[in-house]
Amino acid sequence: MSQDTPQTPFDRIGGEPAIRRMVDRFYDLMDADPAFADLRAMHAEDLFPMRVSLTGFLTAWMGGPRTWFDRENSCIMSLHRGLGISRETAAQWVQAMGQAARETVNDPPFVDAMMQALAHMSAGMAPPPNQDAA
Ligand code: HEM
Repeated sequence: MSQDTPQTPFDRIGGEPAIRRMVDRFYDLMDADPAFADLRAMHAEDLFPMRVSLTGFLTAWMGGPRTWFDRENSCIMSLHRGLGISRETAAQWVQAMGQAARETVNDPPFVDAMMQALAHMSAGMAPPPNQDAA
């Protein structure tokens, strides 16, 4: 890579294989750890399609190949509207992803920056503090 080409987050994390490792760990944790039981219960029995889709979304979001955005509904916020996400389950998502990222990505400043952005996104999917779950 030339010095003029800024490194994307996708490059820095280690490309699609690194994202897939993190996503697999995230869903494994969600599936096995009772701390994430409420979050698990919101998802379909078969997590495989989620593993593929979240890997595709994060790949595009981090500046890698943008295939995921070619689909019909590629608005991540509207895809989550109506799922009944509460502030508690949104926090579980962030906790599980934070753990998965720390365990699989050996780059603490990168993980911190990524988790800050994902925590903002997750908070936006839940009702504000003064309202009940949708
Ligand atoms: C930054 C935060 C998040 C990202 C990037 C994300 C990403 C995704 C993606 C890519 C999908 C697959 C959509 C599809 O292919 O149609 C999905 C589905 C889903 N997400 Fe999220 N998500 C986030 C936060 C959350 C939170 C906070 C919750 C719940 C508390 C949640 C619950 C779900 C559920 C229930 C599904 C559908 C699962 C199913 O059909 O089995 N997500 N999410």
